[in-house]
Parts: sequence; structure tokens; C-alpha cells
Amino acid sequence: MDRIMIRGGNRLNGTIPISGAKNAALPLMIISLLSPATLTLSNVPRLADVRLLQRILQNHGIDIMVAGKRLGQDGMSGDIMHLTARQIADTTAPYELVSKMRASFWVLGPLLARCGEARVSLPGGCAIGTRPVDMHLMAMEKLGAEIEIDGGYVVARARTGLRGAHIRFEKVSVGATHAALMAAVLARGDTIIENAAAEPEIGDVAECLVKMGARIEGIHSSVLRISGVTSLGGTEHSVIPDRIETGTYAMCAGMTGGDVLLKNANAAHLGAVIDVMRQAGIDVDAVNEGIRIRRNGAALRPVKIETAPFPAFPTDCQAQLMALMTMASGTSTIRETIFENRFMHVQELARLGADIHLHGDTAEIRGVRKLTGAPVMATDLRASVSLVIAGLAAAGETVINRVYHLDRGFETLEEKLSACGADVTRQAG
Ligand code: EPU
Repeated sequence: MDRIMIRGGNRLNGTIPISGAKNAALPLMIISLLSPATLTLSNVPRLADVRLLQRILQNHGIDIMVAGKRLGQDGMSGDIMHLTARQIADTTAPYELVSKMRASFWVLGPLLARCGEARVSLPGGCAIGTRPVDMHLMAMEKLGAEIEIDGGYVVARARTGLRGAHIRFEKVSVGATHAALMAAVLARGDTIIENAAAEPEIGDVAECLVKMGARIEGIHSSVLRISGVTSLGGTEHSVIPDRIETGTYAMCAGMTGGDVLLKNANAAHLGAVIDVMRQAGIDVDAVNEGIRIRRNGAALRPVKIETAPFPAFPTDCQAQLMALMTMASGTSTIRETIFENRFMHVQELARLGADIHLHGDTAEIRGVRKLTGAPVMATDLRASVSLVIAGLAAAGETVINRVYHLDRGFETLEEKLSACGADVTRQAG
């Protein structure tokens, strides 16, 4: 297994190109199941999760062609992916594949909508919490599907097709909103989704669906109104920049100090993160090419935040902010309200000398003057990258094991950081 070694202490100066958003690219790839025509996605990040979903979709019979950059595009502009689901060859998503990546469960809605049946493995638990799918199933039942659980699989049928419905989610869920939206676009009649997640990635998927011929109102809001259509066509769509990758590199620069341009980043998707970084004493400016992050000498100030659905502070930046606050001049508090077990990074940050105390869903982070490098490992993607942030400021060498977590969501992390002066290398395992 690969390892990443960081010798901390270097300030970051330069430009980091932000890739296409993992959490938009995955559902955008999945909606290709809804149409026999070709969906062409550009700015697709080169990530392990994208490759895995490619395999899953190919298993359903989707023809996928990946091309590199177009003439005139720079090397960091992502892949161009053509997906054509002329016919669905298989409506089963097997356990061996779904258990490796939860988002693949989201094929349930489109398969049901297009084929009237689907057999999708339950995803199982994961490191950050139990993550049930009850709201996904509720939405499919409302749309007229019959559902049973058989041998660890969700078996769903809608013999006479799906029909529009009024769906109200008790809790905001990104995945359940994607599922309901993807199914409702081909259902007969009108659907209202209330308490929908308004994350930018859902807006991106909805906009692409509209280009394919779907009728959706209320995009980017918490109430989506969909009028079902009988078929969808193809289109071309560019994946939005990754707001979590942006927030992560912003915190890297905030941690080390320096001056970094996050090229192509969209500040409108990061309001809460930017506010918190400014409170911490970091200069954040939206500029034409992206977002500029600067910290020159000023101490980091402690902050108090709670994670919550968009537009509030994202759970996917929680671990990274915690790493940043380990060196603030005072005590910060971070409350995690989305996932019950998303503090796996606390013990690992402690190995670098961080002083963090957990009280239920709240972490109290007492800033320390110095972190010291150590071998660490993490159990999920965002936790792993929080260790990179801490390692960039720690004295001596930090070795991050289980790098495959990082590769699921960060494209060429060591190259992007090295280009700005960090001492980060990868050792192949
Ligand atoms: N939930 C239920 N029932 C459901 C669905 C969700 O109780 O049927 C609960 C979850 O257990 C959780 C809360 O609702 O407590 C919110 O979960 P959500 O469904 O929004 O999460 P998700 O769709 O499984 C996506 C992202 C996650 C991100 C969350 C929250 C993708 C591929 N995944 O997951 O991203 O943390 O939304 O914003 O978009 C990551 O990229 O590292 C990652 C984990």
C-alpha cells in the first residue's frame, strides 16, 4: 500500500488547480442510466471512486469512453467521459461493487425509472456512521415502487412504471434527494420533493437533467417540483469545481501560512467555510480566477462551528477544520450533527500532539504551539486529508498510511501541494 510522507514547516505559495467535484461527477455519471442517448461529461476528476463507478455502470451495460483533455485545455482540466446507456443489460448492482462505494446505491432510482425493476445491494455500514437508506426506499415507494429486502439486496419493482408523488423528507439527505430526483424525472405526472438537500452538487445534477429534457423547478432550493417526461436525450455538461477540495486546500494554506490561488474554485459554494476561515484570521478573497488564500504571520484564532446541510458548514470539511484549529491560539469547538461517528481523525491528530477532547457530538480543540510528525493512518477520506493538513505544519516527518482513502477523493494531492512548496512525497507500497 502506498504511503505519503510529509516534512512539515514549509509555507505554501503558488497556484492549486481545483478539480471537478467528486460528489457531482458520481451522480452525473449515474443519470446516464436514464437515457439511451450519449451524455458527455467534462471536467471529470481522475479519482478511484470515479473508476469504480465506471465499472459498476459498465456492469449495467453502459458504454463508457474516456478521453483526455481537449485541444487548448491544460493538463489539470479533468477527463471527458462519454456515457451511453443504449440498453440496460443488467438491473442488478452486486454487493461486491456497491459495498466498496456507497454512492453506487444511487443507481436504484434510475434503474427503476427506466426499466421498472432493480436489484441493488444494501451498501452496509461505513467508517463515519451507520448511514441507513430508509429515506431512499420511502421515496421509491411513494413513487409507486414495491420494495422488499432479499438476501441483503433491495428488490424494487414498478410494473406499470413510476408515478409522480408528494415526497417530504424528515431529514435533509443528499443521497435520498438525488434518488428521488433521478426517479421522478421519468415518472408519470408531477412530483414535489420537500425538504430536499440544496447542496450545489444536486443543483448541478438537476441542471444537467434539464439539459437532457427533464422538467424541474426550484433547482438549488429545498423544494423541487418535477413534471415527469417519457424519455430523456443526451447532452454535454461540465462538472462543477469541487468545493470540498477547495476548502481542504484553503485550510492547508491557512495552516502553513503563505499565499495560494485556488484556481477555478467557486466562492459561492463555500460561503460558510469562507466565513469561518476569516474568523480564524485567514484572508480569503474571491478573485476572477478562483479564490485567493493568504496568511502572513497572524496567529490563527479559535472558532466555534456546527456542521449542517448546505449552506451551513459542510461535514466534509469538519476534519480539515479540526486539523487547522489544533494550532489556534485558544480553544475551538466543533459539533458534528450529520454523522454520528465522524471523529475518527481525533486519535490520529493526537498522535501529532493535538489536544482534543470529545464530549458526545462535540469536539473541544485546545490549540497547541507545536505539532510533531508521526506515523498515522485514517479510516476515511476526509479524516485522511486532515492528517495531511496537520502534517504540513508539524515539525519533522509525518507518514500517512492507507493512502487509498485519499485517492478516492483527491486527484494528484502530492503534486498539487509540492507545486506550492510543500515537501510531500509518495512512496509506492
Ligand atoms: N440518512 C438517513 N436515511 C437515509 C439517508 C440518510 O437517516 O435514507 C442520514 C444519514 O445517516 C446522515 C444524514 O441522513 O446522518 C445525511 O446523510 P446524506 O444522505 O446526506 O449523505 P450521503 O448522501 O450518503 C453525501 C456525500 C457525503 C457527505 C454527505 C453529507 C456523496 C457521494 N456523498 O452522502 O460525502 O458527507 O452527503 O453532505 O455525495 C465524502 O465525500 O467524503 C462524503 C462522505
